[in-house]
Formats: sequence, structure tokens, C-alpha cells
Amino acid sequence: MTDSGYFIAFEGGDGAGKSTQVGHLVAALEAAGREVVVTRQPGGTALGAALRNLVLHGEHITARAEALVFAADKAQHVEEVILPSLRRGAVVVTDRYVDSSVAYQGAGRALGAQEVADLQSWAVAGLTPDLTVVVDVDPATGRQRRGDTHDRMESEADGFHAAVREHFLTMAKGEPARYLVVDGSAPAEEIAAQVRERLEQEGLL
Ligand code: TYD
Repeated sequence: MTDSGYFIAFEGGDGAGKSTQVGHLVAALEAAGREVVVTRQPGGTALGAALRNLVLHGEHITARAEALVFAADKAQHVEEVILPSLRRGAVVVTDRYVDSSVAYQGAGRALGAQEVADLQSWAVAGLTPDLTVVVDVDPATGRQRRGDTHDRMESEADGFHAAVREHFLTMAKGEPARYLVVDGSAPAEEIAAQVRERLEQEGLL
């Protein structure tokens, strides 16, 4: 499905420490001589950067419009960045992907996980990560780590973030072969080692 490359997504709640883990993994893959393309959603393309600004920092957006904006970001991102990189054999590491929408819009905004999954899957033409790492964090810890600046999602109440978290864990539980769940409250080095171990098992490191 991903041709000759390998596709890894990092997922998790706000303040989970995903970006730190993306950095650790990219360094390990590069040290192993892999070509790595690191990117994030929303964002990662010129259109994505504009959509990111609208959806995270703009005025009120209805829940369905929000889901569609995230889907448009993903459609552009997959075709412009992810697929060409995979086709030439690179390892693509993305900070968030389809599961974020299923958890945030499907569960958090209560639009329905299956409907949102179908919409997002259409947007990305069915491209599924080879491995998804869920960095799990409880809403209170996430809130504490995020500090004082809040975008539209981060400003949501803990109940919203609890629903998001539960949904990430449910998705991971349903497909253990394609997911790795790590405890985001553990020391960053320890989490990074668990991720590396899994990628060693996958033959990537
Ligand atoms: P970002 O600043 O990238 O946060 P983080 O560092 O936590 O990844 O913000 C992305 C926000 O957008 C985050 O709150 C999750 C949310 N989001 C969705 O609601 N749906 C999506 O499809 C994606 C990709 C992100």
C-alpha cells in the first residue's frame, strides 16, 4: 500500500509530547542511514499552513466544516508530500494523521467515528500508516504541559480531551499489529527507546 517506503504516524492528545518523540525517532532513523521525511498535520503544505491557521486560530467553525477543513489538509498533504516520498522509498514520519480527526472530530465533537473515518479515508485515498504510535496522556497532564497558550482545540474542556483520549486507545486496541501505545507520562528517553525497539522488530532500525 505504501510502495517501497514506510509510513509512521504519531498520535495523541494535546500536550502528550508527540513532537519530542518525532524528533527522537527521526534522529535514530537518520543515524541508521534512512532517508526520512518529517511532516505534520494540519500543515505540511502551503495550503495546509493556510488551513491550519483558519481551523486552529480562526473564528468559530461548525463541527462539520471543521472536519472538512482537516480532510482537505490531509488530501493535499498525502498527494503533494507523503505519497511521492513513499514512492521513492523514504520513511515518512507525520505528527498526526487520520486518527486525529477520528478522535477529535468523531469522538470529541461527537460527529461519529465511523462517518469521520470514512470521510478522512476518502480524503487520503485510503493511505494507512504502517505503524501508528499513540502517545497517551491524561487530560489533566496534557493541560498542565500545554501551559497558557491555547488554540481552538486546546481550549476545549477536559471532557472533550478525555473522549479524544479514549478513542485513540480504542483504535489502538482494535489493531495491535498496526499500533504502539506508549505512556506519555514516562521520561522522554524511555518512550523513545520503546519506539526504537518496535521499529527494530519491524526491521527498520
Ligand atoms: P498542533 O499545534 O499541531 O498540536 P499538537 O502539537 O498537539 O499536535 O495542533 C493540532 C490540533 O488540531 C490538535 O489539537 C489536534 C487537532 N486536529 C484535529 O482536531 N483533527 C485533525 O484531523 C488533526 C490533524 C488535528
